[in-house]
Formats: sequence, structure tokens, C-alpha cells
Amino acid sequence: MNSKDIVYVNGSFVPRAEARISVEDRGFVFGDGVYEVLRVVNGRPFAARFHNDRLKRSLEGVRISLAAGDSPESLTEIARQLLRENGLLEGEATMYMQITRGVATRAHNFPTPDVSPTIYISVARFAPYSDLARNGAPVITHPDLRWGRCDLKTLNLLPNVLASQTAKERGAFEAMLIRDGVVTEGTKTNFFGVVDGSLRTHPSDTHILPGITRSVLRDLARQVNIDLDETPILSDEIPRLSELFLTGTTTDVMPVVRLDDKPVGKGKPGELTKRLQKVLADSLASGGD
Ligand code: PDD
Repeated sequence: MNSKDIVYVNGSFVPRAEARISVEDRGFVFGDGVYEVLRVVNGRPFAARFHNDRLKRSLEGVRISLAAGDSPESLTEIARQLLRENGLLEGEATMYMQITRGVATRAHNFPTPDVSPTIYISVARFAPYSDLARNGAPVITHPDLRWGRCDLKTLNLLPNVLASQTAKERGAFEAMLIRDGVVTEGTKTNFFGVVDGSLRTHPSDTHILPGITRSVLRDLARQVNIDLDETPILSDEIPRLSELFLTGTTTDVMPVVRLDDKPVGKGKPGELTKRLQKVLADSLASGGD
């Protein structure tokens, strides 16, 4: 936590402890909302344009309209102001933005007449997972029990929460989710693996979140002549994985060296993984887009 800890709620900048949201907020009652998490390096949000586009898509996907004058861009601007207010213009930080459908007496259908969406934005100091990045992380496999629109970044995260907790209880960093014999993604990350020499990841469809780190890395891989095949890894192919890694805003490229208590490949970070880790780290350090 930062010393001042000022957050933004519905038009006001307030100390976190004084921030208030109604118990009838649909985010609280139904998980009826969307969110974004951005990485900030020395005051610059990384790949902000991509996050803004994804937020727009998520809002449209769940049919929440921002008030006139608000936009993903204006919310990012508010988050920048929070960085200044909280003294986070240097070093690593994250921005969190959440928009819910607003406050209304409980009813599943949308409120009539319309209510204003609730907007909550906060920033925090961030410490990258340096040890796991260097040595690799243990991961478990877990059934993907989520709904059919995983491409929208919604607050409905219960299957992710439960799988993540199972991973933690088994001493793992993340759960790699499997739906119908196909590796989809993690609870908060996307997965990439090397099978028979080719780098593969799940295509961008309704079964995964289109990760910003995933798409930045895809472009960076192309620039350094690494082919990426967007064909999902099948659970039957798991024993043939020579490398495995996960990506995300808060995880960067993180090697996975153990899966369900068995070594992946040689049981240490693979060469391709390390190359991609470096190109992403360089991009982050230089401010990305
Ligand atoms: N999670 N898949 C899921 C299900 C995610 O929740 C996330 C991000 C990702 C990676 O996306 P990106 O590269 O844009 O961070 C993939 C955020 C960080 C979170 O929920 O905290």
C-alpha cells in the first residue's frame, strides 16, 4: 500500500478507508461489472491503448454504457492522476479500474430507468515475481469450469478464485485450465507451450481472455522471428511439452518448470521462454507502445 492511498470512486478522490459503495451495487450483488488491470513502469501505463480497447469491448459485451464524457481513455487519465496523488510516478505500480452496472434494488434484469455505472479506480505499488521469473513456477492442471464468454473481462471470477485457491493449497503458483481436453488459459494468465519444437497458444476466441501481454508478446515474437502457432495445446500433448510459460500483466513471461508435480522438459526455464522473457522485459523497460 502507498502512504497516501487515495482512490477514485464515482467522481471523487478519497482516502481508501473512506471510499464507500452501496450494498445494492450490482457489482457486489451480482458480480455485474467489468475491470482492467494495467502495469505501470515509471509513471507510464504499459500498452494503455490495448487495455482501453479491451475495456471498451468488455463494456459493450455486457451492455454497460459509461456516462457521457467518460471513456476508457478518461478513466486511464484519472488513474494517472492517482499515480501522482499517491507518489507512484517512479518504479513499478499497477492500475485497477472497475465499472459496475450501478446501484439498484435487487432484480436480475437491468435497472429501469437506467442508473449510472459505478466507477472505482485505484493504484498500488507492485513488486514483480523476480524469483519465480528466474527459476520458474510450479503449476497444476484444473478443469475449466467457467462460462462461454471468457473473452470478456468481467467481475464474475468465482471459478478462477476456486482454481487459484486449489493451486495455492497444492503449493503451485497458478492453475492451467483444461476444457474438453484443451488447455485454455490460467486463472489470471495465458499459457504458451512448446510441443515438438513449435510454440503454441490457444487462439483468441470466447474460451480465453485476449491477454494484452499475450498479444504484445505475439508481436514481439514476430519481430525476432519466433513463429507462434495459435493452435491450442491438447491435454494429451502435455507429456510432450519441452517448455511451458504463462503471461500476464502482473506475471510478465513466467517459466513453468513443474506441472502437477512433474518436471516440464528439463525442469528448468527453457531457451525460447528465456528469449521471450527478455524481449518482453526490454519492451516494458522502454515503455512499450
Ligand atoms: N488478469 N487470462 C485471465 C483469465 C486473466 O484474468 C488475465 C489477467 C490474463 C492475462 O491478461 P493480461 O496480459 O491482459 O494481463 C489472462 C489480471 C491481471 C487480473 O485479473 O488481475
